[in-house]
Amino acid sequence: MKVTVVGAGAVGASCAEYIAIKDFASEVVLLDIKEGFAEGKAMDLMQTAPLNGFDTKITGVTNDYSQTAGSQICVITSGIPRKPGMTREELIGINAGIVKTVANNLVQHSPNTILIVVSNPMDTMTYLAHKVTGLPKNRIIGMGGALDSARFKYRLAEALGAPLSDVDGMVIGGHSDTGMIPLTRLATRNSVPVSKFISEERLQQVLEDTKVGGATLTKLLGTSAWYAPGAAVSALVQAIACDLKKLFPCSVLLEGEYEMKDICIGVPVILGKNGIESIVEIELSAAEKAQMAESAEGVRNTNALLDA
Ligand code: LAC
Repeated sequence: MKVTVVGAGAVGASCAEYIAIKDFASEVVLLDIKEGFAEGKAMDLMQTAPLNGFDTKITGVTNDYSQTAGSQICVITSGIPRKPGMTREELIGINAGIVKTVANNLVQHSPNTILIVVSNPMDTMTYLAHKVTGLPKNRIIGMGGALDSARFKYRLAEALGAPLSDVDGMVIGGHSDTGMIPLTRLATRNSVPVSKFISEERLQQVLEDTKVGGATLTKLLGTSAWYAPGAAVSALVQAIACDLKKLFPCSVLLEGEYEMKDICIGVPVILGKNGIESIVEIELSAAEKAQMAESAEGVRNTNALLDA
């Protein structure tokens, strides 16, 4: 199993590291446009192999897409990250051009690849990847919901005073501060609804903290986060590479599901060797449906900027 990660910045490198540590891929190619940067990150990571005990071979290349040929999975992390106070949507001008070029180059060398898009604004970049590559819908996956759900679980565990392994929850909708929909109604502590343990007010706070999870970290770090984004991507890559049929919320092209068309937005899907094996349509409450419609409106407004 060969995996390519484009962008050797913090998210790309952390993604490569987590993939390697889990030791399910034979090879990870890390590609960056900055001369020598991916080579350096790959060498540094390879020198952790004797310490961390993995056999995955990590190779770094400077903008040489021929080295990515035959990748079963390609991850696009390239583009500029957020600075404190910026929204993900503000990155569109620069990142759209980058994602377009990168997606085309990847598919040219690996026509059968499954693409995972991480660059922001992620839902719009996933939609753009569809437009420029024309790959079947099961082979383009936007990573957002897996990360947002991890952040939701973190906040839930904190509020409940429970271990993280006890809580379950999912975030659907757009990967933006206003578009995320943490499904508090369905969140549980070991199958018991979380509303049994915390007040409606506290749960609302969990929801608010989850939605600004990325922005909170950007403020603290001065740039956007990388450990949890990298771990979330590696979890998706592993589910596909190992055909795990795991359920994650991901940004995918909808063609009638959730009563939407011609949009990529976060909904639960099953991931396996074919990429998106199926889209899971869960029953949403009237309030959640309204939130989903509002979230989709935001994503569509950002998509419209692609033509501007
Ligand atoms: C974040 C970026 C990866 O949410 O969108 O941290």
